[in-house]
Amino acid sequence: MSPLTHLVRTVLSRPTSLLSKQAFHTSCIPRKEWQIGKLSHVAIAVADLDKSVALYKDAFGAKVSEKLDLPEHGVTTVFVDLGDAKIELLYPLGKKSPIKNFLEKNKNGGIHHICIEVDDIENAIKDLRAKKIRLLSETSKIGAHGKPIIFAHPKDCDGVLVEFEQV
Ligand code: CO
Repeated sequence: MSPLTHLVRTVLSRPTSLLSKQAFHTSCIPRKEWQIGKLSHVAIAVADLDKSVALYKDAFGAKVSEKLDLPEHGVTTVFVDLGDAKIELLYPLGKKSPIKNFLEKNKNGGIHHICIEVDDIENAIKDLRAKKIRLLSETSKIGAHGKPIIFAHPKDCDGVLVEFEQV
């Protein structure tokens, strides 16, 4: 039996009460403590916000939001609505913007992080720590969407900064 078949059989052989109780998103493997969900957004740090808005709105024909200043996060954001997920254009705001360094290294901009939904962020934090995946803060914080978030270190995530967002 292939490892995948074995995994699928193991999951399917679990009591159905566990599966239904923890049902969160159909494409994840049902587990007890926490479950990964949908892609929330891909965040792109941009060097020229008006130019990026024009790219997504005029060239690509996407629905984009107004500019939104988030001083507590040190960014001005524009959300590009892609239905199931969003692209967030991030532009530095203030002197201590967390994306300033990124833009110094990536002059043309680039993908800054991805964000994936989770059903229980506190359990996710405990579990990720136990699995030696480094997190960028001790506790969850309230993110740009008013929901608790935490970032996992890119060195432990294939070079990608991964944000987890409680839904
Ligand atoms: Co984000």
